[in-house]
Amino acid sequence: MEIKLITTAPELIEIDALVAFCFAGGSTLPPLNGAAADLLAEACASGEFDPKPCETLLIHRPGGLAARRLLVAGAGERDKLTAALARQIAGAAIRTLKPMKYRSAAFIVDGELASPAMVEAVAEGVLLADFETDRLKTDPKLREKHIDRVYLAVAQAAPAMETALAKGIVVAGAQNFTRTLVNEPSNLMTPPKLAEHARALAAEHGLKIDILDEPRLRQMGCGALLGVAQGSIEPPCLIHLEYVPDTAVDESVHLALVGKGVTFDTGGVSIKPSEGMEKMKYDMAGAASVLGAMAAIAQLKPAVRVSAFAPCVENMLSNNAQRPGDIVRTLSGKTVEVLNTDAEGRLILADALTYATRNCGATHVVDAATLTGAIVVALGHIHAGLFSNNAALQDLILAASKAAGETFWPMPLDDDYNDYLKSPSADLPNIGGRWGGAVTAAKFLESFVEGKPWAHLDIAGTAWLEEGKPYLAKGPSGLPVRTFVELALAFGAR
Ligand code: BES
Ligand code: ZN
Ligand code: ZN
Repeated sequence: MEIKLITTAPELIEIDALVAFCFAGGSTLPPLNGAAADLLAEACASGEFDPKPCETLLIHRPGGLAARRLLVAGAGERDKLTAALARQIAGAAIRTLKPMKYRSAAFIVDGELASPAMVEAVAEGVLLADFETDRLKTDPKLREKHIDRVYLAVAQAAPAMETALAKGIVVAGAQNFTRTLVNEPSNLMTPPKLAEHARALAAEHGLKIDILDEPRLRQMGCGALLGVAQGSIEPPCLIHLEYVPDTAVDESVHLALVGKGVTFDTGGVSIKPSEGMEKMKYDMAGAASVLGAMAAIAQLKPAVRVSAFAPCVENMLSNNAQRPGDIVRTLSGKTVEVLNTDAEGRLILADALTYATRNCGATHVVDAATLTGAIVVALGHIHAGLFSNNAALQDLILAASKAAGETFWPMPLDDDYNDYLKSPSADLPNIGGRWGGAVTAAKFLESFVEGKPWAHLDIAGTAWLEEGKPYLAKGPSGLPVRTFVELALAFGAR
């Protein structure tokens, strides 16, 4: 899709659809007059159209405009328009136009929308909305429904606006890359496949890459990761990508992004019920999100060193699968009693966290993992859970997520929860009791970060959209790519 800034006056833009944001009370951006304004006023008065965010109204022959159609996009209260909301409204407009086979759209980025943050948000909203999950459908007609061209009409194409647009394109591209990986079925997205994608990404963007294969993992002593992997014919790996800035604001900082990469989670011998099991292809969303974030970081070049670590395995069951009760020795030296083979994410992350902090010198660590069903019970599909041992890092993440328009809810991490993690025969069990499952999973991870500032994002409920949104297709959400990118930028600006 071509997406660019133009400075043409709204009424002169030749396009399939001109999108006008419409606020409560009926005022619009751009201001409308003549027949279009009358039609809109009538639709509002009759109740046919309510200008709530993501509602739309298509006007077919908008007199006085060079555009073929006018799409009125509800935007809510005028003084409550945030970049996060603008992202969604722009996306909803695109997803309204697309099935009608319109190919081009123009947004008027003026008034409340005339800022770099809004330009970035609208561009992201457009590109994220254009993403579909139908790569493997063979009907050629599906390919006809796409948006070719989007203009953002600004009063002046100031350099800050161009930079914001470029950033939006990079960030949305990275997020869509993540969504593509997550959407692939597990027969096509195995640990070696993820490694291949990481290699291509490193080559394209000039990142350092090291892929630790099974013999190296064995030689190092990553017994927890290997224990999970042993039931599958797919070889495991630990992907390490690294971005080194030309100059860093603080040479001593090394930010690590760590993502769970279980390419399919059957549960292992503690097998999952078959209903819904097909969804466990998205158990590598954490890994895909750190790869996507690195693609954006390599292009946006924050002044901070950033590494991504993605432990990748398939949790399968077979003659060789790990058994409940097995005790494994982690890279850290700690032993773990595997009471439930379905609590595998924390096992592979344990070794990745030790590798990041102890072997690679990461000073700040943030992991993302589809870790527990318990976080879905606690927070539903609305917020991801945020657990941290460090208030300053937690605040940075919350600020980054706000800028990114992704939401996280702080969860407890008191040491009292360690009472739930006792094993008679190993240093730790891999599960706690019945209650507080998302917290005990986080406490388990905490024992592998060597006391470094660390945060854990449990994205089990938010990495996959059970239902499409007006602005996003059903399926992989691409969370938390944008937060990771904003966090790296914040670290680079300190
Ligand atoms: N991958 C699952 C968690 C999950 C659940 C992700 C729902 C997405 C949607 C994880 O490996 C798992 O199975 N966790 C168990 C842990 C339990 C055995 C302590 C769970 O949450 O049931
Ligand atoms: Zn599991
Ligand atoms: Zn899992």
